[in-house]
Amino acid sequence: MTQHPSDNHWHEMWRDNRIGFHQSEVSAFLEKYWENNHRNVFVPLCGKTKDMVWLREQQHRVIGVEFNETAIRDFFGENEIEHTVERKENLHLFHNEHYQLYCNNFFDLPILSEVEIVFDRAALVALPIDIRKKYVEYLKKITPNCMRILLITYEYDQQQMSGPPFSITHDMVKDLYHDHETIDKLDERDVLQLLPMFQKRLSFMKECVYQIHR
Ligand SMILES: C[S@@+](CC[C@H](N)C(=O)[O-])C[C@H]1O[C@@H](n2cnc3c(N)ncnc32)[C@H](O)[C@@H]1O
Repeated sequence: MTQHPSDNHWHEMWRDNRIGFHQSEVSAFLEKYWENNHRNVFVPLCGKTKDMVWLREQQHRVIGVEFNETAIRDFFGENEIEHTVERKENLHLFHNEHYQLYCNNFFDLPILSEVEIVFDRAALVALPIDIRKKYVEYLKKITPNCMRILLITYEYDQQQMSGPPFSITHDMVKDLYHDHETIDKLDERDVLQLLPMFQKRLSFMKECVYQIHR
């Protein structure tokens, strides 16, 4: 089983209900920039995000991974979604006909050949610098038929806060996804006034959205 020193941090956050990253609303950039022309969507490091419910409402089949079991159980419980739990070798799967959520470490996932599109909100930005490259490479490896990634990041002065979330600049996105066909920054917005927990530490915080084609 893959492990990184930062994994415990996430389990402690879920245990203590310190989940400021969880939004009660669907991501504004997801609603604005989603192109609904594929069926199978992968949501890496999915938490219990409502974005998955919205994606399902757009008729997608949602494949997710999240290594904290409370998060996955809360997702199905809070949204009153019936499901089955199954263990197959080292995989712990919560699923029904619309959702397939792996309660596993992202880096232990098998090839997901059905995935056509990836939605990354607060996944890349959650990872420390030493594993970001590995994340992008592994994402590419396990989604060989993925056409497109919609990526949402945060940008702020990394000197003012250690993260997570980590600040990811446009240059970092270009560097990480350099072997992809196109990387387009679609939009950005100031979000500091929406996120009181960062207001004391940061002088600015932007949310950015990118579309990456393979
Ligand atoms: C910042 S949260 C974002 C959750 C979700 N994308 C959202 O928008 O609410 C990052 C999530 O990734 C999970 N996580 C972190 N590292 C992981 C890994 N290697 N494998 C699976 N899940 C991981 C954490 O438990 C946490 O729920």
